[in-house]
Amino acid sequence: VRSTAGEDFYEMTQRVADVEILPGVRTQIWGYEGIFPGPTVISRRGRKTIVRHRNELPVPTVVHLHGGRTAPEHDGYPTDLVLPRGWQHHGQHGGDLRVGERTYEYDADQRAATLWYHDHRMDFTAPNVWRGLAGLHLVADDAERVLELPDGDRDVPLMICDRSFAADGSLAYPSVDPELVAPPGVHPPYEAGVLGDVLLVNGIPWPAMEVDAVRYRFRLLNASNARRYRLRLDPPAPLVQIGSDGGLLERPVTHQHLDMAPAERFEIVVDFGAYPVGQRVRLVNDFGDGSTGQVMEFRVARTAADPSRVPDRLSEIPRLDPAAAKTVRDVVLQSKAIGQVHGWTINGEPFSPDHDHAEPRFGDVEIWNLYGDFHHPVHLHLVHFQVLGRGNDGPGQFDAGWKDTLDLRPAERAQIITRFDGHRGRYVFHCHNLEHEDMMMMGNFSVR
Ligand code: C2O
Ligand code: CU
Ligand code: CU
Repeated sequence: VRSTAGEDFYEMTQRVADVEILPGVRTQIWGYEGIFPGPTVISRRGRKTIVRHRNELPVPTVVHLHGGRTAPEHDGYPTDLVLPRGWQHHGQHGGDLRVGERTYEYDADQRAATLWYHDHRMDFTAPNVWRGLAGLHLVADDAERVLELPDGDRDVPLMICDRSFAADGSLAYPSVDPELVAPPGVHPPYEAGVLGDVLLVNGIPWPAMEVDAVRYRFRLLNASNARRYRLRLDPPAPLVQIGSDGGLLERPVTHQHLDMAPAERFEIVVDFGAYPVGQRVRLVNDFGDGSTGQVMEFRVARTAADPSRVPDRLSEIPRLDPAAAKTVRDVVLQSKAIGQVHGWTINGEPFSPDHDHAEPRFGDVEIWNLYGDFHHPVHLHLVHFQVLGRGNDGPGQFDAGWKDTLDLRPAERAQIITRFDGHRGRYVFHCHNLEHEDMMMMGNFSVR
């Protein structure tokens, strides 16, 4: 990273690399800088961050900053491909093509939050991310320091995902025809998305971490293609949620367990001072079993001074007023036969760059009623939203704060409210089950 007065500049090369994920086994990945997860990018709120990505992979790529309030030309639209060096492009193509490299600019004019960047190539996001194209991008704000939350090496991101490995150590991604041919009425393979049987935290299978008997802040990210988690500590201790996708909550929320859909982030504080020194504390996943039931382990190594606290008031979140909504929209996420094939659709339509589902004017507040037939983590680019309710109830217990991804459950209606501002232009929203996304469960909105 190089810094000048107003900006921080990163350079990354996307490349094929052989790394050790399983002990003693070589695994080929596609990694930002050849590592998985990719390097963590840190933006200071209000300072521009520029990231130049070189593509030395054998395939086109697209980089998206998930949770970023990014201008449309830097947002990683699925057809804005970066072709590998030396490739030529010819013929018609709807996207903004680059060869060899592309420079993405992020204003970071947004709340401090745990964001992540990942590949977003149309039809191929799922296999590209599976092979390793994901990393963290934190937006930091010095104003947070007055809160005295756990800091330094007690502020730890935990990127959780599942993968499978073939006998030779390679990452095993089943080859799915992106057109997913299955006759109407027949359930296609990987309908639920692709799941792995090895759980990785920050790229390490079932790691163990030594901790002091003090408070830690964990920034949890579910970077899995399709797996949902229900996390809890064993022996039990409260998971005190302080943040969500869009940064700090207004007030802490105490959970005994945490449900996390793909792409969601939860920031929690765990007080290991509640355990005796020497205790092993397991982070378990109640939605998994066997190898996927265990995520990682903490070992409480020693007592230590703890200057941190969790204040009662964390941040200010102005409530968006439903009465201010210009438009109420129904957005239906469902599986559907499209001609002779089965696909995942939004309002009955597969993704097309040429079709807008919504055209809010800059600054408009809209309410979206999201209906789902399955588990669909619904993600909007550009904006963060608030959850108004689920079914006839208020927001769910994991819906607090500013969200950019909502864990929509089968046969559910969830109501969200957002203001379309920050930038004008065309953006996507989609299911963040990456197999669903690749199977066309994506749409556009254009801020006018
Ligand atoms: Cu995390 Cu459109 O993506
Ligand atoms: Cu996104
Ligand atoms: Cu889905």
